[in-house]
Amino acid sequence: MKSKGQSRSSKKEKRHASEIENFAPLENKTIILGVSGGIAAYKACDLASMLRRNGADVHAVLTPNAREFITPLSLSTLTRNPAHCEQYGQTENWRPEHIDLAKKADLILIAPATADIIAKLASGICDDLLSSMVLASQARVMVAPAMNPNMLNHPATQRNLDILENRFRYEIIPPEFGEVACGDVGSGKMAAVESILASVAARLLVHRTLSGKRVLITAGGTREPIDPVRFIGNRSSGKMGIAMADAAAGRGADVMLVSTVEVNRSYPVYVVETAQDMQETVEAEFDGCDALIMTAAVADFRPLRVSSQKIKKTESEDLVLELTKNPDILDLLGRVKRNDQIIIGFAAESEALLSNASQKLKRKNLDMIVANDITVPDIGFGSDDNAVIILGADGARENLPRMPKRAIAEHLCDLLAEKLSEIEKAPVS
Ligand code: PMT
Repeated sequence: MKSKGQSRSSKKEKRHASEIENFAPLENKTIILGVSGGIAAYKACDLASMLRRNGADVHAVLTPNAREFITPLSLSTLTRNPAHCEQYGQTENWRPEHIDLAKKADLILIAPATADIIAKLASGICDDLLSSMVLASQARVMVAPAMNPNMLNHPATQRNLDILENRFRYEIIPPEFGEVACGDVGSGKMAAVESILASVAARLLVHRTLSGKRVLITAGGTREPIDPVRFIGNRSSGKMGIAMADAAAGRGADVMLVSTVEVNRSYPVYVVETAQDMQETVEAEFDGCDALIMTAAVADFRPLRVSSQKIKKTESEDLVLELTKNPDILDLLGRVKRNDQIIIGFAAESEALLSNASQKLKRKNLDMIVANDITVPDIGFGSDDNAVIILGADGARENLPRMPKRAIAEHLCDLLAEKLSEIEKAPVS
């Protein structure tokens, strides 16, 4: 016979069980759990189980050395999916296994990550299934190092970690301080599985931080026609703006890209040519937007008269073009910006970077300006990388060293999401 207490507790247990059953924050997320060969590999079993219980579809990939520590059977049982080990293994379809897995992943988590796999990732070596799959994937890669403290502190490992940290897509989950398996004490213990799980969840869920927000982004350099064949242009390739638009779209924003460069994306792209075209399109969309990000290099001047015929060579040595001022799109929109809108401008400077950028920040009534020194070779215009200083209207200042434009864009999305959430929380006046 059940006592009263027993029946109460079994009800509670049932409710608890159903809450646990329905708790699946990582539902619809495919995570590749890469396991490399260190003693912390045994913790990958807990991790696999936790990720699965949080709703993720987990596929384990073991390096040959990882198999010295745990078996594929443990991981396939815990993930409820086959565990993968063979670089040249057979899949159900025609695609090689590393490509198949690479395409599946929303996130690749390598835990534990030994000095060896970190070195391979940093240098692009792909001599096993895990390293090949990472190279073939476009997914974010989170790396949880675990090794002897001397191995971690070795300049080679530190350099490799630096390379990964500064590479778009990669994130290091720092190891902890403590006693490691060999008895040495120091930094090198793999982060606790709970904290790895929290980092994974934060990374996968943070991507929706701009969900429901309309973000208008400009990209590329305007072209101001002189005649039917010539124009005044600049060196902007549109890469920064496109990276910005991709990053915002990845976080769930309703993105509109106004670009001088044609690009095929799932979000709307309005292709424009001149500053006036860009002004017209941006002005038409601005009112309905939560944020405007102007990465475009807009020509400040255009030819006063556009010749309808190709201008011919003349006897004279000189050709004088008369220019007239273009509208300053940001300046105009900064004046009509509502309190619930955020405007981020970019400043391309060849001298007095900070003072020129901060003047533009104030004059154009921006919330943030991203200043880049365009005299530094190999970054800025046309390059995949940039190094910038972000200035905020609130006095904030942040230096981002050279990194891929997409990584800069991801960081700006973090800042934008924070600003928009502050606006949402602010009392309505
Ligand atoms: O396109 P990429 O090759 O990736 O290169 C990226 C970049 C170097 C173009 C980018 O990082 C950058 O610096 N963009 C801003 C270039 C620029 O025009 O800066 P500016 O200091 O002249 O203008 C300041 C701000 O006012 C910019 O946000 C600009 O879009 C805006 N502006 C400028 C002139 C104008 N008539 N109207 C504007 O709205």
